[in-house]
Amino acid sequence: MMHRYQNQQLMLEDCSVAALAERFGTPLYLYSQVAIEQAFNAFAEPLKGRKHLICYAVKANSNLAVLNLLARLGAGFDIVSGGELARVMAAGGDPAKVVFSGVGKTRAEMAQALKAGIHCFNVESVAELDRLNAVAAELGLVAPVSIRVNPDVDAKTHPYIATGLKENKFGIDIRMAPDAFRKAASLPHLKVVGVDCHIGSQLTQTQPFVDAIKRLIELEQQLQADGIVLSHLDIGGGLGVSYTDEQPPTPAQYLAQVLPLIPANLTVVLEPGRALVANAGLLVGRVEMTKDNGFKRFVILDTGMNDLMRPTLYQAVMPVLAVKEAQNQGPVSDLVGPVCETGDWLAKDVPLAAEEGDLVAIGGAGAYGFTMSSQYNSRPRAAEVMVRGDEALLIRQRETVENLWAGEQLLPEASC
Ligand code: LLP
Repeated sequence: MMHRYQNQQLMLEDCSVAALAERFGTPLYLYSQVAIEQAFNAFAEPLKGRKHLICYAVKANSNLAVLNLLARLGAGFDIVSGGELARVMAAGGDPAKVVFSGVGKTRAEMAQALKAGIHCFNVESVAELDRLNAVAAELGLVAPVSIRVNPDVDAKTHPYIATGLKENKFGIDIRMAPDAFRKAASLPHLKVVGVDCHIGSQLTQTQPFVDAIKRLIELEQQLQADGIVLSHLDIGGGLGVSYTDEQPPTPAQYLAQVLPLIPANLTVVLEPGRALVANAGLLVGRVEMTKDNGFKRFVILDTGMNDLMRPTLYQAVMPVLAVKEAQNQGPVSDLVGPVCETGDWLAKDVPLAAEEGDLVAIGGAGAYGFTMSSQYNSRPRAAEVMVRGDEALLIRQRETVENLWAGEQLLPEASC
């Protein structure tokens, strides 16, 4: 984490968070460039000497500056929509390093990705194989294909972000995978290049990854015996981060366990999202007012669930950092937003002395923060700023109220 206290004031790298809030206003997303670079290198270092491709999962944080930074570090990208592909290309990402995941790719998205020349489609169903073959045939192209296998392992994470169980919608059941591969190999406009899996997100243990990868390798060997030779194995994303007291393996520890399982002739593809960006980010809000109803003390910020959904959607516990260090001690309070929903909270039962006008930051907000934000209650979305050393760059302007209804229109007079 790149934040720390200096003279009792919260800093991100060498920038004072209070000064940034003054300059750019609140709510404000701040990202540390150094933190992203270090996280990327933590994956890249142990992979040296292996054929590999780190495909950053764009959904975690899709700001063009973040994508551009990762592209410059050599990253590929894991996308789940045509919109994400367009972002990657606008940010200077190389389409040849893109893998395209997702259970519901449209024909238009397939055509867009085929024309862009992506590395491969991570196909999630037999229906998708047929559709992709047809779209590629129309364009006179051959689609590179990996099949996403559902290995039926328990990722031991929150049920909304577990994806590798047989009751989940993702992937093709591993028992049905050999048939799907045979079918893919028989379709003239598909070329089978790999196998992939993604078992869930915010995993804090290595064992479920190991179990899943072992099953994939068994499948790969079986396919090879059937004459279907793969060139890559995509182990997905999912490595957890420490928000408060979790102790996930580091990328190096995780890779030390999983890389030896994978035959050296296979290119290792990874799809980390959260682990690259979560702890680079802070969401900063200002206290509008406080209230004590005799039962509970509430600290009401100018930011809430519309800017950061994770606490209410996943009961996620994210660190609360008063911008003035001393305010991290104080009466037990709920940190809430202004949105008209009971679920509009960012933290519960935290010691916090902040009063009107004070600033409070939420840590770990670099992943699935801004990308999941909304304009609910007609709240313009936050500004985003990239910090590097003592410099700060606005990478997304704060929305205006006019942005809120751009594209809407009044009914014609005659229609009422
Ligand atoms: N690959 C695929 C196919 C995925 O579905 C995902 C995440 C990733 C990679 C990246 O996973 P990561 O390394 O970030 O764990 N909004 C939730 C997380 C949803 C994850 C969805 N898929 C949250 O805020 O916890």
